[in-house]
Amino acid sequence: MSRIISLNKIDSTNNYAQQHFHSLPDCTLITAEEQTGGKGRNGKSWFSPQNSNLYASYIIKDINFMPYKASWIGGLAALQTINNILNISNSWLKWPNDVYINNKKIAGILCETSSNSENKISGVIIGIGINVNMTTEDLDGIDKPATSILAETGKSKCIKVIGKQLHTNLNLIYNKVLKQGINSIFNEWKDANKLIGKQIEVLLDNKKLINVKVIDIENTGKLIVIDSEANISSIYSGDVSIKNFT
Ligand code: BTN
Repeated sequence: MSRIISLNKIDSTNNYAQQHFHSLPDCTLITAEEQTGGKGRNGKSWFSPQNSNLYASYIIKDINFMPYKASWIGGLAALQTINNILNISNSWLKWPNDVYINNKKIAGILCETSSNSENKISGVIIGIGINVNMTTEDLDGIDKPATSILAETGKSKCIKVIGKQLHTNLNLIYNKVLKQGINSIFNEWKDANKLIGKQIEVLLDNKKLINVKVIDIENTGKLIVIDSEANISSIYSGDVSIKNFT
């Protein structure tokens, strides 16, 4: 049975999901009002003040696809949830899975695998942070341009209600994946990524900074790029920023 576990204060909802993974049913969503050790991608921390934002982790156990593709489910569900609330169309996914409104980040996804005692992957935890009631003052303290639902609309929203909507969207997308396979959501995920044709700067995992133009996104999740000397290459992971956002 799919359910939501609401916690007050925890280090990280992803850590809680990891610790209780085997006893929790498929499709459980864990939320917390505050995280004391919120985790972002690439070892960064995720600013998680009390009752400001949505901090949630979704458990999926039935995976017959490469675990990194689970982030497509999280990215699309977060995007749909934000779109429903804001009733907008200028939101998009920045590869691999940040949700942006114009050139500001409003949500991030951190997927982690869970393994059983034989070290075999038994599922994925999809961690989702959505900036809901964060004030412009707090947003200014974040290292990259960021926004929140409050900053976009001038109105604060009930975080619990957004958590329920996110859970519904996650369940709908995951059910589709269970019935039709993960590739059934690839085109939607790819279309939501507005990077194709854009000139980008990528900080690669080896800390090298490159300037390239995006020509495609493969269904392996790789970004296909071309440099100024017409060399084509693919990027599996890295921190992307768009040179001239329009
Ligand atoms: C990123 O963009 O760097 C990913 C951010 C993911 C944050 C969420 S908040 C809920 C879950 N618990 C965590 O510790 N992190 C994720």
